[in-house]
Amino acid sequence: MTSGRAPVRVVVVGSGIAGLTVALHAADAGCRVTLATKDVLEHANTRYAQGGIAGVMFPDDRADAHLQDTLIAGAGLGDPAAVRVLVEEGPARIRELIALGVAFDRAADGTLVKGLEAAHSYPRILHAGGDATGTAIERALVAALRAADIDVVEHAFLVDLVCDGARAVGVDLLLGETDAAEGRRVRLDADAVVLATGGAGELYAHSTNPDVATADGIAAALRAGAAVADLEFVQFHPTTIAVGTPFLVSEAVRGEGATLIDDVGRRFAFDAHPDGELAPRDVVARAIARRMAEQDGRPVRLDAAPVHPGDPAARAVHLARRFPTIDAAVRERGLDWAREPIPVTPAAHYLMGGIATDLFGRSSLPGLYAVGETARTGVHGANRLASNSLLEGAVFGARAGDVIRTDAVTGTWVGPAVEAGASAAPAADVPVTTPLDPVPVFSRRRLQEVMWQGAGLIRDEDGLSHTEALIAAWRAHTRTPRREKEYEDENLLLVAAHLVAAARARTLSVGAHYRRDTAPTPRSPAPDLVVEGSS
Ligand code: SIN
Repeated sequence: MTSGRAPVRVVVVGSGIAGLTVALHAADAGCRVTLATKDVLEHANTRYAQGGIAGVMFPDDRADAHLQDTLIAGAGLGDPAAVRVLVEEGPARIRELIALGVAFDRAADGTLVKGLEAAHSYPRILHAGGDATGTAIERALVAALRAADIDVVEHAFLVDLVCDGARAVGVDLLLGETDAAEGRRVRLDADAVVLATGGAGELYAHSTNPDVATADGIAAALRAGAAVADLEFVQFHPTTIAVGTPFLVSEAVRGEGATLIDDVGRRFAFDAHPDGELAPRDVVARAIARRMAEQDGRPVRLDAAPVHPGDPAARAVHLARRFPTIDAAVRERGLDWAREPIPVTPAAHYLMGGIATDLFGRSSLPGLYAVGETARTGVHGANRLASNSLLEGAVFGARAGDVIRTDAVTGTWVGPAVEAGASAAPAADVPVTTPLDPVPVFSRRRLQEVMWQGAGLIRDEDGLSHTEALIAAWRAHTRTPRREKEYEDENLLLVAAHLVAAARARTLSVGAHYRRDTAPTPRSPAPDLVVEGSS
């Protein structure tokens, strides 16, 4: 830096691809960056991403095709301007990851291997280590962060944002909690705060997310008055192993030919959509949920035989090489997917909504940025296209990191077009439509079951209003939190209240928000887009 001005102080909270990317870009721009994270650096959702990262990296693919696929998967509710940024800047960010040492899988001739996933019109998914893409990316970014001049605070729980009037000026953290002792509160002052705290998988009884996904950033932003949007759009991944703890079976497995069959061995996904197993994720997840309901809750099965037809021994070798992470998880559960179909069931996977931002991660609260799953940039609409999440974290993380210093120096702040309150807020006084006397004792598990039943894959007014009333009752009875788990529970309840209120307010079905008590809105792209193959 050449100016005599003190460096701009940035606090980034969260250490997935979005948080790490912001931190690296902001440090490169001359900011003094501190990155705080709830667990160790590597323990973020990014690490668990299997399928890969989508990007237009091949000469016969086109950014417009990626844009259309994204908007169509998003049921026409995506923001075309945000999606254009995503698909056009994505390739540069992927090259940046390669330069940092991410070894995406390559063919014998050195070219990148192309992967296909649902609702992509072109096989544009890059993967690393077969199905360990997130791990490879997380490792490379963490190594870069450790080599940079960035302060890292691990095991730091975000208690709240610190605001000066209507401006974020720091964070309160809880450090050093142990089983025996409460943590100590520490305040970090900042010129800019970036929330990259991931999503809210812990809201649901079945989830692909690690247990750190408790919506802490979104809850802190809500308490500070920042606008949130689209919280009703929760993506349920169609396939997790239905034995033991839910374990993601990447869509890439279906992309390579695996089929879904029911109790009698019938492929049922084509009943729901002409693209069958490769229909948009929300469609496949609901088709599975319906089939499970029809067969008394028993999971459907994923048949991996078509991935490598013929000799099961050769298939076993292929599956172990192509999908080593999933293969290990399948075998740990005593299953053998080379020889027989494995039981699978949907699980909560990704929150499309979040803190409303502009195209540079700026929220409606000056000084506060949000990136990655915590943010609602508008790229995902009502249903995220497979493998666009790592891409979003990289693209919008870089954009935010690049502008923070200039924003702070010039003092300008525009923020998102979405107004505060864009997502329906829970009513202060929720009408209790179902008797709740006595109110069941709160536990995280109960909340997760109630959310799964009442605000899960298939919703209706009765279930949503009962869920809303129960959450309101639990919120009214919670004590002031002192321990990390209690803060997390408070955050989950707050975000659940907003999510359910938004789901009640959106009375039509669209994308991942499906209400059995209303007619579905036809899935459509943005009106100004021509869809190839449509008349
Ligand atoms: C998967 O591999 O199916 C998950 C990837 C994603 O959620 O984009």
